[in-house]
Amino acid sequence: MKKTFYITTPLYYVNASPHIGHSYTQIVCDCIARYKRLKGGEVFFLTGTDEHGQKVCQSAEKAGKGTQEFTDGVVGRFKKLWKRLNISYDDFIRTTEPRHVQAVQKAIKILYDKGDIYEDTYSGYYCIPCETFWRKEELKNGLCPDCERPVEHISEENYFFRLSKYQDWLQKHIEKNPDFIKPDFRRNEVLGFLKQPLSDLCISRPRKRLSWGIGIPFSPEHVIYVWIDALLNYISAPGFADNPDRFKKIWPADIHIMAKDILRFHAVYWPIILHALGLEPPRCIFAHGWWVISGQKISKSKGVIIDPNPIIEKYGADALRYFLLREVTLGLDGNFSEGAFIDRYNADLANDLGNLLNRTLTMVHKYFNGKIASQGHITDKERFLLNLKESTVEEVDGCMKDLLISRALKEIWRLINAANKYIEDSKPWEIAKKGDMERLAAFILTLLRVLETVMVLIYPFMPSTSQKIASQLGIKEDISSVGKATLKKKFIIGIGHLVSKPQPLFPRIK
Ligand code: ME8
Repeated sequence: MKKTFYITTPLYYVNASPHIGHSYTQIVCDCIARYKRLKGGEVFFLTGTDEHGQKVCQSAEKAGKGTQEFTDGVVGRFKKLWKRLNISYDDFIRTTEPRHVQAVQKAIKILYDKGDIYEDTYSGYYCIPCETFWRKEELKNGLCPDCERPVEHISEENYFFRLSKYQDWLQKHIEKNPDFIKPDFRRNEVLGFLKQPLSDLCISRPRKRLSWGIGIPFSPEHVIYVWIDALLNYISAPGFADNPDRFKKIWPADIHIMAKDILRFHAVYWPIILHALGLEPPRCIFAHGWWVISGQKISKSKGVIIDPNPIIEKYGADALRYFLLREVTLGLDGNFSEGAFIDRYNADLANDLGNLLNRTLTMVHKYFNGKIASQGHITDKERFLLNLKESTVEEVDGCMKDLLISRALKEIWRLINAANKYIEDSKPWEIAKKGDMERLAAFILTLLRVLETVMVLIYPFMPSTSQKIASQLGIKEDISSVGKATLKKKFIIGIGHLVSKPQPLFPRIK
């Protein structure tokens, strides 16, 4: 049985509408999922929403709505944005769904029956925006060490999970598997964190303080701590409780992607919970950086927000996808500014890509009435560009394997720019003047083939643009089938192929 490639985003809190930060994680995962599918792999791409806990409850109260009604409304906004951004997820899980509740209760029961959960008094501090328990000595000037906001003191009877029992196992697992936590500097941070002894993890909240959560099967007075509830989504969606055959085909996750602020939950608590459940850990946990504005993290609860919707309306979803994927190396922070966005849009999309398509199609119509009639005379110039096209396919593949997403785009643009230079150096207007139609045919056919490859290579990054290029190139086949040919270095466009009239892809922004 061939394992399905399983990729996940975090489940976002539904305390407020999604912003550029959430969109970024979605777009990164979508790009990886689309590339895998292009290569013929079976993919399960999961996203969803984290709906329980105090933070969501408080936001509903503030909005004067019932919690379920409030979460339903915000979930709608997330789904709408993912549609506008062309996010090709295979499943969307909400932690309030019965299939998830069933899986969480099953998992908690297994851990309890095995003696990994015990009852004790929790006395410490709680940060509501981070939904995190802290000990006094962990606080920074009395504030949450992660987000530096006030915490509340709590003292309550709760259940604890024996995290400490598995610390050695986790440490060895990380040491033995260099690709388990990525990038490497994050892996080192986690190993550094594990040098201190782990405390057992408080995994419940008393119902009388917080009723908006999943009930603990062996204690009617408690609900499950929202982080444990949320992490378990990664096994509930593929069928841990209700579809063992499907679960076997999908689990373990090939990659969990999230931002650096929630790496500890994913790289420490989550693998230990899985190990205690007798399940394999995920193969890779990748923490990307933060989008910031003038050094400040873009954040729902801090009210520093960039709404992607007006950007999509003004410039299109693909321009935003391109900017976010190209602007930063996956793993590092990025500064969001409209100026940088417009510069990239004009230079890379309107000029480089847009012009290449426009000039090429204009020439097919001007010199050949939309159709190339012969192979023509190929020279070293064509051979050079066709070789570059082939090596770009390989380079991009290598980059995508290593999650060097921005570099993959840089490689594609190297090809686009080489093709633009090839036009300038070849001076087709002079060839036409001489009436050397065989030379001209070889020249234009080469450009069309480069464009066919570019169309396929950009598909995971900019799916609608890829589709638009396909339609202008007169390619009727599905991109995924053209993609398979391209990746095997074959072409769809041949002699007698009819192309459409050019339409601007990205009108210049003034
Ligand atoms: O943490 N830059 O949900 P959340 C980049 N429910 N990415 C950002 C970002 C920014 N400025 N802001 C948010 C939670 N993100 C939990 C997760 S998972 C089992 C439970 C993205 O709504 C990034 O992916 O606070 C980050 O990890 C996630 O949104 C946090 O979303």
